[in-house]
Amino acid sequence: MAYREIPAEIERVFLDEETIAAQVRRLAARISEDYAEIDNLILVGVLKGAFIFLSDLSRNLTIPHEVDFIALSSYNKGVVNTGAVRFIMDTRSSVTDRNVLVVEDILDTGYTLDYLLRAFQARNPASLRTCVFISKPDRHQVKVPIDYLGFETPDEWLVGYGLDYADRFRTLPYIGILKREVYA
Ligand code: IMP
Ligand code: MG
Repeated sequence: MAYREIPAEIERVFLDEETIAAQVRRLAARISEDYAEIDNLILVGVLKGAFIFLSDLSRNLTIPHEVDFIALSSYNKGVVNTGAVRFIMDTRSSVTDRNVLVVEDILDTGYTLDYLLRAFQARNPASLRTCVFISKPDRHQVKVPIDYLGFETPDEWLVGYGLDYADRFRTLPYIGILKREVYA
């Protein structure tokens, strides 16, 4: 598949590369300002989805920070969330006494981030905030605090810029809406 052609499974492009880049720069500027006087910042990206957003965000920050990752799983396959979350990989560094900024690709039901925030809170970080690139407010089942938000979207399945459907489409440079017939 040639990536410059939009795959047939995609209904339309929701966010193009320029729109994404501009919003990442705005988020990075806000975060850089908010943490200007604060040491010990660690960005924790939630794998796999957040890896592209985190790398762009991180390179746009003008303040020193460390990068780490965790891996969680909430989906067996496709789009159905049962609410069960599993830790697959923990951070390398301890988050205790650190200023932790969790970087997540997308907030759907909220179960994943809710679970993660509880787990991290129990480790006594100095502070704990969230940066979420996309939120689907109509889908939220639990209330999760979002400190930095990229975009909101209605209830659609998005792919690209780290987001996948059954591990496909993750490396598209834009964010597209998947045709409903692909997962319905
Ligand atoms: P939640 O626990 O329902 O909030 O789900 C969060 C996780 O589900 C995200 O980190 C994504 O990995 C995945 N997810 C939710 N919605 C989408 C989507 O539209 N496209 C791709 N992945 C999604
Ligand atoms: Mg994710």
